[in-house]
Amino acid sequence: MNKTKIILDTDPGNDDLLAIIMALKSELLDLRGLTIVGGNASIEHTTGNALSLLTYMDRIEVPVYVGDASALNEASTSPEEFEEFKSHRIEIHGETGLHVSLPNPSIGPRNIHAVEFIIEEAERHKGELILVPVGPLTNIALALKKQPRLVDWVKSINLMGGAVNVPGNVTKYAEFNIYCDPEAANAVLSSGIDIKMCGLDITRVTSVKKEETDWLAGNSAGEKIIRRLLNTVFETTGRNSFSLHDPITVLSVLYPELIDWKEYDVSVICEGSQFGKTVGTLNPNGCVSVGIGIDQVLAKAKIAEILSE
Ligand code: BDR
Ligand code: CA
Repeated sequence: MNKTKIILDTDPGNDDLLAIIMALKSELLDLRGLTIVGGNASIEHTTGNALSLLTYMDRIEVPVYVGDASALNEASTSPEEFEEFKSHRIEIHGETGLHVSLPNPSIGPRNIHAVEFIIEEAERHKGELILVPVGPLTNIALALKKQPRLVDWVKSINLMGGAVNVPGNVTKYAEFNIYCDPEAANAVLSSGIDIKMCGLDITRVTSVKKEETDWLAGNSAGEKIIRRLLNTVFETTGRNSFSLHDPITVLSVLYPELIDWKEYDVSVICEGSQFGKTVGTLNPNGCVSVGIGIDQVLAKAKIAEILSE
């Protein structure tokens, strides 16, 4: 079977944890590595969380590469914007990024920077590699800056970020991943690479509700840790639903037909009151396919199925 080669660029993060487990589990994916970015927590925490998860899942052969601390481009951010960002991140993901505890890692990250790894891997597998960023787009933008030929080498990018026809989640305009580094997002979205954008338009509505206690029924290690995570989120944060932002993005690589896509040009507002807003203009020849609708029931069933493999 010809598996799809992916790099998952991630900032774990509660929902990132589900996305990583999907990438580890799916028989249709060849996970080349995890590249780590700061976002939901500091780069130290997001790296530690990734390594701990691989240790817990007994998948320590999967390489982890540390990337940029990102977590908001402070140079272009006002103190108020920084506060919005910090309180959103702590409210959703806690101080360390995860609402569940994992074992101490038995491995460390590899000795190559994430940006280097992305470039090397894209060159090694020209036309085959799909990048799946589910955190701030800093690593991907840095890789594009360092090696512009990435535009020809990468097959496509399936990213979690933005909100085109719906409000944001950090502010009423901006979605978290884009808010963290709008300039990076602009560089990626205008790169000309084929992009599938899984934004809040499709990810926020696709959620697991508190009462859906049987969503994951099995007893695999992945299912057990996710059940613990969901229980803690529902019991300790007062939230009644958990959005499947990052898992949907991995799903979009496997089953794009579950999502309605429309071609847009997308740019990002990098200053002023609408800081971090993704502005979409319909263009049949645009490079960015924006997910504007999703079969939620089937998507959730498929995610559960992959997690149970
Ligand atoms: C995105 O931001 C983070 O909170 C999640 O991990 C997801 O990638 C949703 O806005
Ligand atoms: Ca994420």
